[in-house]
Amino acid sequence: MTTMILVENVAKTFTLHNQGGVRLPVFDNVNFSVEAGEALVLAGASGAGKSSLLRILYGNYRPTSGEIRITHAGRAIDIVSAVPRTVLDIRRRTLGFVSQFLRVIPRVSALDIVRDPLLARGASADEASERAKAMLARLNLPERLWHLAPATFSGGEQQRVNIARSFVDPSPIMLIDEPTASLDAANRDVVVELISEARAAGSAIVGIFHDEAVRERVATRYLDITDFRKAA
Ligand SMILES: Nc1ncnc2c1ncn2[C@@H]1O[C@H](COP(=O)(O)OP(=O)(O)O)[C@@H](O)[C@H]1O
Ligand SMILES: [Mg+2]
Repeated sequence: MTTMILVENVAKTFTLHNQGGVRLPVFDNVNFSVEAGEALVLAGASGAGKSSLLRILYGNYRPTSGEIRITHAGRAIDIVSAVPRTVLDIRRRTLGFVSQFLRVIPRVSALDIVRDPLLARGASADEASERAKAMLARLNLPERLWHLAPATFSGGEQQRVNIARSFVDPSPIMLIDEPTASLDAANRDVVVELISEARAAGSAIVGIFHDEAVRERVATRYLDITDFRKAA
């Protein structure tokens, strides 16, 4: 087994500088690891800190203390202390983040948004187009939308473009926050399949899923954030 994420003694307390420095303890002493090929699902009530933990794993929020070793190109690198250039390289090649929102870029078509990660990783233009189209079709995005910029798409359509972009070439580690929030049952099923396929191909998954049925189909293991609640 290859350990892809190793979390050691991570704590997070938010300090609200614009509200008199109020301190909001979220979790303390979090320790776990994630292996290639597993899907760890984060559990715990709303506000428990699931999204915060995911953002810390992505190097987006800074933990108050602790280390997070990400296996990147065969080496374990602490993303907490890594320089920005290294963090960007880790994200480009190893660490994907799937949120429920698409970052819409004006005038860039849905097809180009999905092709982009393939081109960045060296696929030919033809291959990138074929794979991107297949992924958009699989997520039931109507063909008449493929050449349009997603700014005017519905929430669910934007979400599917975002998922297509993330899964057209899955990263070795995929962090996933509520990807099915505004999808219908058929498209939720597709997302569950895409996650299973990524896992079967060796990706390590850490995910948050509002829908209990989705959670149960995706998870190979659970981590309840409430267990790490910090005493106030
Ligand atoms: N950027 C932030 N600044 C201050 N407090 C935050 C921030 N992000 C989250 N929190 C607080 O941290 C706690 C955990 O939030 P979150 O990680 O979003 O929980 P979950 O995803 O489990 O619902 C909440 O009390 C929330 O208000
Ligand atoms: Mg959340």
